[in-house]
Amino acid sequence: MTTATAAPSTPDHIMGVYNRAPLAVERGQGARLWDVNGVEYLDCVAGIATTGLGHCHPKLVEVLKTQGEKLWHVSNIFRIPGQEALAKALTDATFADVVFFTNSGTEAIECALKTARKYHTANGNPERVDIIGFDGSFHGRSYAAITAAGNPGYVEGFGPRLPGYVQAKWGEMDALKALIEQPTTAAVILEPVQGEGGARAMPESDLHQIRAWTRENGVLLIYDEVQSGMGRTGKLFAHEWASDAAPDIMAIAKALGGGFPVGACLATAEAAKGMTVGVHGSTFGGNPLAMAVGMAAFDEISKEETLNNVRDVAGYFNQQLSGLKDRYPDIILDVRGKGFLIGLKVAPVNREFMAMARDQHLLVAGGGDNCVRLLPSLLLTVEEAREAVEKLERTCEVARAKAAA
Ligand SMILES: Cc1ncc(COP(=O)(O)O)c(C=O)c1O
Repeated sequence: MTTATAAPSTPDHIMGVYNRAPLAVERGQGARLWDVNGVEYLDCVAGIATTGLGHCHPKLVEVLKTQGEKLWHVSNIFRIPGQEALAKALTDATFADVVFFTNSGTEAIECALKTARKYHTANGNPERVDIIGFDGSFHGRSYAAITAAGNPGYVEGFGPRLPGYVQAKWGEMDALKALIEQPTTAAVILEPVQGEGGARAMPESDLHQIRAWTRENGVLLIYDEVQSGMGRTGKLFAHEWASDAAPDIMAIAKALGGGFPVGACLATAEAAKGMTVGVHGSTFGGNPLAMAVGMAAFDEISKEETLNNVRDVAGYFNQQLSGLKDRYPDIILDVRGKGFLIGLKVAPVNREFMAMARDQHLLVAGGGDNCVRLLPSLLLTVEEAREAVEKLERTCEVARAKAAA
């Protein structure tokens, strides 16, 4: 018998799956973070689009404290009033009739995929199992999520891929139509704005067209708005920018809890018809703490003034970033995305650009296609956006000098 080689020693005792920046964060307030040495950073990561209202938003802190002294957890075998309140708010604001609460985006995706297949079984079409996903997408790290997204880096080495997943190429609409028309197709899953893929927004006309084709063929449409949703693009959900493009099922998470772990799968009553008693469930999903914070976050994010702020400041940001691209065409190759889901395709290796930005006390995230992403708090002010642009300008200067050295 052979034994596996011992893993390299890890002084932090954490499984070595993260490519971590050498920055130990201690405290946050609004769009600012401080490390353990008290050094301040302007945070344009926001937990990768998660602390949508900035760090330690006073209303969320207050609700968390109050709920923490009242009730943390009860099983879903009981009614949870906070769950019903947040479900009502979400369904009132969207296409959906029902909600299943989870702890993460991945679990919301899992529920979405299961809901789609169960729908077809309930309709007497159990052969409809195929899920069409897109290249460049990211849906989480469960087997179903990595298979649906199909990124080889996340799939390889984990054994056989799950059956029943088909990949479409972003932008190849004729080929997509042919896939949708297959009699074994259950659903299409897509991010209206790809996040990890490098802030790639699907054209609104394509979303509209995919909605029409799925409807015509009895195929369900699932949106993954885990990253693009909850105000990130200046509307509550990114798909709202397109006309007549509402999905049948939608996964959300991240900013839903403003930093508290919570996700949700939303569906129309029709799409959820197969999700009957006992077919799905969760221990922690929708617990009272998560629901209290989620409700407070929803109230703040869904305010017109919050969404207007995203539209206004993102407009300013975008204009300034385009100017930066014109001044540094050797460093910034493209500015893309929607609202506060901004991608800069850069010439240097994106991880190096991120480190150079960090040296300027600006935190940005990485992304596919050698992008860096800016995903700030939805409450970012124009002054903070201006500061971010100044820090990026200095980063570009350093990058240019490095390239010339
Ligand atoms: C679009 C999208 N879907 C799903 C997920 C998975 O969410 P989680 O990490 O909460 O499981 C993510 C996380 O980055 C995401 O960006």
